[in-house]
Amino acid sequence: MKIGILTGGGDCPGLNSAIRMVTKRLAYEQKAEVYGFLDGFRGVIEQDYKKLDYDSVSNILDQGGTILGTSNKYNPFRVYTKDGTLDKSDDAIRFMKEIGIKCLFSIGGDGTQTIAAELARKGLPVIGIPKTIDNDLVGSDIAIGFKTAAAFVSDAVMRVRTTAESHHRILVVETMGRYAGWLAMYGGSASGADVILIPEFPYKIEKIADFVTARAKKGRKYSVVVVSEGVKSVTGEQVVRRVIKDSPDPVRLGGIGAHIAKKLEDMTGIEARVTVLGHLQRGGRPLPEDRLLASRLAYHAVDLFLQGKTGMMAAVQKGSITQVSMETPHGKQRFVTMDDQVFRMERSIGTCFGF
Ligand code: F6P
Repeated sequence: MKIGILTGGGDCPGLNSAIRMVTKRLAYEQKAEVYGFLDGFRGVIEQDYKKLDYDSVSNILDQGGTILGTSNKYNPFRVYTKDGTLDKSDDAIRFMKEIGIKCLFSIGGDGTQTIAAELARKGLPVIGIPKTIDNDLVGSDIAIGFKTAAAFVSDAVMRVRTTAESHHRILVVETMGRYAGWLAMYGGSASGADVILIPEFPYKIEKIADFVTARAKKGRKYSVVVVSEGVKSVTGEQVVRRVIKDSPDPVRLGGIGAHIAKKLEDMTGIEARVTVLGHLQRGGRPLPEDRLLASRLAYHAVDLFLQGKTGMMAAVQKGSITQVSMETPHGKQRFVTMDDQVFRMERSIGTCFGF
């Protein structure tokens, strides 16, 4: 039996834990051959893969990144060539069927699972495993990588707090997260941030300046502001770092932290600095809880395959490992709402969300 596996989209801690469990279990219990496609869908389009076996995935449980490589640029339905974009999905499916792949395990976020769902619609047996530090994948309450990234944000904010206090400054910490505020809100909440700005709730800079000034008047002449890269002001301002034209999701956010720091300094007269956490949030070892989560999701994904339930994605719902249709995350994102308990909790103690 031959099985394919790939990691797509931005990397995150825990991908190797999932690759290890899928490969070890299929090799050990089913004597299966595992084909690891390289750099996400690039490997599928360009027929570039390496064979994995029980031993080749030993000692990677806590290794950051992905041994298969990844990419957030390749999509078999839209391959960029000098003659324009081509749909190579039929070629990709034909190739996988020719080499005898019984199922493709797709470890990824919304972009990767949307492509995988479209391949499934065209008849390729696919099983999804959710990962994203943004935690915005519809169908799973939590995805591989989020806990480690949120813990990193929290640790960074705690460090920034002591220097903010010593220097009586405003310290702005910019996080990733794209258009969802999970990473900023959970990281900020776990570190007692004074202000948390997330894309779901447009901010008014005057509200933040007033909040910081009121704190200063009470003797706390410092404030820690956590801002998610995708935030928008009430007037619709959003900062885009770059546009990558041959990417399925071309917009790369970033730079809002410096903008907010400058405005707050001008408006309050309190010195401000910015720390951009950037790719530090994605790198490094997964926490034990992410290793366990990735292994459990991967184990369940293999269960789904053995039960003939392709076209499904392993998922976490209400604390249990379960599954949803691959159509569930297709083309959608999961956002923070005002019902979220962490949001309500922060509001109940006066944390400023900029509105
Ligand atoms: O989706 C994961 C993520 O890290 C986002 O939080 C961020 O906006 C984006 O990827 C960055 O992408 P890149 O590594 O291409 O700059």
